[in-house]
Amino acid sequence: MKTLGIDIGGSALKGAIVDTTTGKLLSERFRIDTPDTLTPKEMAGAVKAMTQHFKWKGPVGIGFPGVIQGSTIWTSANLDKKFIGCDGAKLFGQATGCRIAMINDAAAAGAAEMRYGAGRDFMGKALLLTLGTGVGSCFSYQGVVTAMELGHFPWGKHGKSAEKFLAASVLEQKKLSWKEWGGRLRDYVAILEKLLWPEMIIVGGGVSADHAKFFKYIKPRAQLVPAEFLNNAGIVGAALWAAEKK
Ligand code: BGC
Repeated sequence: MKTLGIDIGGSALKGAIVDTTTGKLLSERFRIDTPDTLTPKEMAGAVKAMTQHFKWKGPVGIGFPGVIQGSTIWTSANLDKKFIGCDGAKLFGQATGCRIAMINDAAAAGAAEMRYGAGRDFMGKALLLTLGTGVGSCFSYQGVVTAMELGHFPWGKHGKSAEKFLAASVLEQKKLSWKEWGGRLRDYVAILEKLLWPEMIIVGGGVSADHAKFFKYIKPRAQLVPAEFLNNAGIVGAALWAAEKK
């Protein structure tokens, strides 16, 4: 089955047509940069532009960086707060005329990795972290993936969200060295290991392409691997969700 997967992120929307029986992209990836924070209405316009680019009328899976219940968006840490309370299927469905399935962006990435990527055939406990504008997370056991919000684990002396110290965006903005940033990730992963005991940790997000530069500082108990789909995991997983959501 073919579906359009869209990954909404803090700095861009990325989309591609995906063969959900293989996880392969059937088109080039199309990217719409969003240097300014888009309102829900503007984002709906961008999603429409994405469907028009692909001349797409079929099902669309959308990975969104927030808590999703049903198709309602409940948090929006790094996008416009006006998304909170929006029904994503309605918002994007009305703009595009397509059937929309909403999923958390990190859960989408995890679904792709567990099915076709670094975690394929792995039935034990796996934790996936995406390092981007924020820190996304999901957990998989027996191949069943569930979204988590571990990027908001209280961190530092004021108990701010851990992602404010650990996201890949912080590495850039604060011009941290790989060693400094890797050290922060080590402390964070040590806590997550204590609480969740994953056997495998998969790291995604754009920065996973540079994994050799920082994995050496993390030193987890679990097996640490980069996401095989790198930054396309969210697109592939969103497409899978649109094809298979019950
Ligand atoms: C959001 C998560 C999302 C992550 C990565 C966090 O701020 O709360 O839902 O998965 O960013 O985009």
